[in-house]
Amino acid sequence: MTAPAATSVATTAALPLPYRVVSRRVDTYDTVTVELARDSGPLPPFAAGQFAMLTAYGIGEVPISLSGGGASGDRLVHTIRAVGAVTRALTGTAPGGTVGVRGPYGTGWNLRDATGADVVIVAGGIGLAPLRPVVLAALADRARYGRVSVLVGVRTPADLLYGAELRSWADAGIDVEVTVDRPDGDWSGHVGVVTSLLARAAFDPARTVAFICGPEVMMRFTAQGLLTRGVPADRIRVSLERTMRCGAGWCGHCQLGPLLLCRDGPVVDWAGAEPLLSVREL
Ligand SMILES: Cc1cc2nc3c(=O)[nH]c(=O)nc-3n(C[C@H](O)[C@H](O)[C@H](O)COP(=O)(O)OP(=O)(O)OC[C@H]3O[C@@H](n4cnc5c(N)ncnc54)[C@H](O)[C@@H]3O)c2cc1C
Ligand code: FES
Repeated sequence: MTAPAATSVATTAALPLPYRVVSRRVDTYDTVTVELARDSGPLPPFAAGQFAMLTAYGIGEVPISLSGGGASGDRLVHTIRAVGAVTRALTGTAPGGTVGVRGPYGTGWNLRDATGADVVIVAGGIGLAPLRPVVLAALADRARYGRVSVLVGVRTPADLLYGAELRSWADAGIDVEVTVDRPDGDWSGHVGVVTSLLARAAFDPARTVAFICGPEVMMRFTAQGLLTRGVPADRIRVSLERTMRCGAGWCGHCQLGPLLLCRDGPVVDWAGAEPLLSVREL
């Protein structure tokens, strides 16, 4: 199995710890970014690509990736799309309110072997949130990587996350391309699926590491596009979503073939993921 090695970060808590919402930013009509802080005690170190189990007290608990913060900061940043009861409660919690946090869990994006390589980051919709720490890491240590491309696909312009930030990434020397499925009257940019951006992205396939997050069908076509251009399957990483309960490898809810995705994922190399995703009845 070619899943990237889990980070060496220890799992810190089996029970949720209370965190305070210190800021809440409305990103789109259904998506909110929150910053969370502990009132006492250190923050657990998170790696890009890992997730936390977030509790809306009295309602439930869901896995949500880290979209910022982490080891060097004093806050956890999560970008959450409201799709059901728990995510609606989390996104609706006002600053000063409390949510539960346990984790970190799962594998990270494993940026180590991207040193000296071109980096291609492909996001679909909310998938840009778990990839944001990869971009921030590349910006913080720009000389460590070759060309860095961020390719973003969203359904409509209203679904685009981090608009101002995307412009600042471009100003800092990252190739940022955005495409929408359905333009509105004000949209003058690219129209089409995110894979259509691959052809115009500049990278050397043999020395590229690619990170993909979005709906599974989007990740499948993106990985195929990258393979066609010559990026090796073990240098293409995807983040897989399955229903999670414990988040820590105990309950089996997140099983995909031989993998428990909360423990062996969510980030998995395409070389390992592709055969599992093509078997529908697993
Ligand atoms: C490892 C991992 C990381 C994740 N990271 C993030 C993240 O950073 N930000 C984020 O917003 N979400 C993320 N998710 C998805 C998030 O966990 C789910 O959206 C959440 O569990 C939904 O719970 P709910 O109780 O609010 O909705 P539910 O009541 O479970 O679902 C309500 C409805 O929404 C549908 N639904 C559920 N999840 C999704 C989804 N992701 N997209 C579209 N429809 C959905 C359901 O099928 C159902 O119809 C992640 C999931 C995993 C496994
Ligand atoms: S969610 Fe329980 S084993 Fe993965």
